[in-house]
Amino acid sequence: MKKLIIGNFKMNTKPSEFKTYAMALVTKTKGAKNKVVVCPPFTHLAVAKEILSGSKIEFGAQNISDEEKGALTGEISASMIKDLGTNYVILGHSERRTKFKESDKLINKKIKTALANGLKVVLCLGENLQTRTAKQQYNFVRKQLDDNLKGIYENELESVVIAYEPVWAIGTGKTPTSKDIEKMIETIRKEISYLYSEKAGKNVSVVYGGSVNLNNYKKILSNDHVDGVLIGGACLDVDGFAVICRENY
Ligand code: 13P
Repeated sequence: MKKLIIGNFKMNTKPSEFKTYAMALVTKTKGAKNKVVVCPPFTHLAVAKEILSGSKIEFGAQNISDEEKGALTGEISASMIKDLGTNYVILGHSERRTKFKESDKLINKKIKTALANGLKVVLCLGENLQTRTAKQQYNFVRKQLDDNLKGIYENELESVVIAYEPVWAIGTGKTPTSKDIEKMIETIRKEISYLYSEKAGKNVSVVYGGSVNLNNYKKILSNDHVDGVLIGGACLDVDGFAVICRENY
């Protein structure tokens, strides 16, 4: 089964290093059946366009402004990254939600801005340890879906990938059990069915993120419920990332 493999570089690498990385990734993933998307920092997107155009690898950004343009020093708009050939944007990442205090309302507005500019959205959701300990993770993620997707039409869901990224699993080496991942993905599909239609719930892409690495990717990706993975730390090693991209599931 063809899976979606997304690499989130976060604030790592320099544009010159990314150039070497991207050239190697193109070579190492030739013939790979999976869909590969790399999301480097904004400063690398022009390099991504230069190296990845004409290859099957797509690229995305890690954030955008909720506004289209204007007096917003330091911000980057959806149309700016789209103009560079960017197809994806990661929104709602837990690091943006916690460190940069992004609210569900703001994330909802960013999603609308991204979709209006023809970008595909990787919407990150997931509970922290406290919420999990209180056994509230399903209610929590359902509410994130309700709030983040408010006003988004069913036909636009084709351009939205849901990434279940439990906060406690990000960068910690910990991962939920296969059963836990399945249960949460089922919850997400059910909520999308409730908000839109059964068809939408069945068709929406749901990937898993949080400490995916060379030791555990097979187990996670061979799970039929999982449409793909969002990889942070482990995507920085091009050889290892290419192995995950090449595998048949
Ligand atoms: P790690 O793979 O480093 O845990 O990061 C996951 C993540 O946040 C991807 O968006």
